[in-house]
Amino acid sequence: MISSCSNDEDQEEVEEILTEEEMTYLILKEKTSKNGSFLEGKILYVDTTHENYSKLLSVGEFINDNDHYVLLLRKTDEELLAFSNCCPHLGTSNRWSYSIGGFRCANHGNSYGTGTGFVANCSSKSRSGNLKQYTTFLNKDILTVDFDS
Ligand code: FES
Repeated sequence: MISSCSNDEDQEEVEEILTEEEMTYLILKEKTSKNGSFLEGKILYVDTTHENYSKLLSVGEFINDNDHYVLLLRKTDEELLAFSNCCPHLGTSNRWSYSIGGFRCANHGNSYGTGTGFVANCSSKSRSGNLKQYTTFLNKDILTVDFDS
């Protein structure tokens, strides 16, 4: 007598169901895996765990991403902010330093805030004000910067 036994039920795979946000996260992890960032239209995605951006894991640290003309600042554990890196004075983009309260451009020594009040626009000869800020969103370790905001 030959008998067979099917244990299909036992082997039934448990499919993992991902939410839309989890799917998006995995796609962005893949797209940012080479350089740590990926620009899609006017949206920049940054993997803050990638070696090119991992400074952003520490509060008070910033990265001047000259490829995308943006200053990325880890302001607090929860807040990751993005600003135009064009100095409101005469447009210099590569001489920034940061201390609590704002960014300082070493070209002529002017400082600019990170608040939301008066915004000093790029190369407008302004010697004070806040840098232009972009809307950001953090999904786990992936930062989204909306340059259209
Ligand atoms: S260009 Fe930045 S302070 Fe003058």
